[in-house]
Amino acid sequence: MISRIAVMTSGGDSPGMNAAIRAAVRMGDHLGIEVLGVEDGFDGLLNGRITPIAPGQASRVSGIERQGGTVLGTSRSAEFRSEAGLQSALSQLERHGIEALVVIGGEGSLHGAHRLSQCGFPVVLVPASIDNDVGGTAVSIGVDTAVNTALDAIDRLKDTAAAFRRAFIVEVMGRDSGWLALQSGIAAGVDMVLIPEVAFEVETIITRMKAVRASGKSHFVLVTAEGVSPTASDIHHAITRRQDEVGFESRLTILGHIQRGGAPTAFDRLLAARLAARAVEELFHGRLGAVIGFRNMQTVATPLEAAVAEPRAFSEEVYRFAEILAG
Ligand code: F6P
Repeated sequence: MISRIAVMTSGGDSPGMNAAIRAAVRMGDHLGIEVLGVEDGFDGLLNGRITPIAPGQASRVSGIERQGGTVLGTSRSAEFRSEAGLQSALSQLERHGIEALVVIGGEGSLHGAHRLSQCGFPVVLVPASIDNDVGGTAVSIGVDTAVNTALDAIDRLKDTAAAFRRAFIVEVMGRDSGWLALQSGIAAGVDMVLIPEVAFEVETIITRMKAVRASGKSHFVLVTAEGVSPTASDIHHAITRRQDEVGFESRLTILGHIQRGGAPTAFDRLLAARLAARAVEELFHGRLGAVIGFRNMQTVATPLEAAVAEPRAFSEEVYRFAEILAG
């Protein structure tokens, strides 16, 4: 029976990571498991920055469910990706008597967790990333908050776009995933959404802008995912060069890291609570090497191998509806 685990956050922080840490600690305490915290992701793990939380220090996680970021800190560890880094992490886990590990993070963390698991170390991954690109789940912790943050920003930009009769090109995050762009773009009722999963040409944007202009609309809002090519900046410059033809002056807004911060929504807090609590229960019962995800409103365990191989969540239907409803 497992009696001593560690919890860590890794990669890009996402709102709700703290709620997941809290839930893992509370569930561990409930099951009589000792819970340690790894600081600063895989960097902290391979350097042995590991401290006890529960029992004894469980008050460290009181009230953190409403905070963005991660109280444990995070990193993108290049060193962990090397064989030497992996071996250091394994020896630190052994040195601290840790029998199993809960990794809270995104796609990169999934690969990190999978490597540890391939070495025989018991690990579960709780998916947390604003990109929603993690296998083994329909939705990751932090996505809902990030979509709401982007939506709020786009709503505000629409006000000034209409006032000045301008075009706004709004770039949202997502690395090479178009999820955030598609969700926030549909919710904000924008004129066009561009994502990395679907190729496009600048000429298509120009045609759409002219049609919107001809329809009598005073402004044009285009949401692009950061992974698109040509980039939001390329598009903005192309439109600016052809301003007389398209009939809109263009402005470029890159939302950037603002989408990673802020208090998590109720949905993200609940998701974090359910996934992390289930993750610790899985470890306790000896069910190891899985992603604990969320599908059809239920928590589900998917083997790490299967999650690594799973294609990223992308709905043709959602993209088609975004196209139809735009404008
Ligand atoms: O993976 C989350 C994310 O915010 C991506 O959307 C973005 O591409 C990347 O992290 C930015 O990373 P960094 O914080 O290292 O600049």
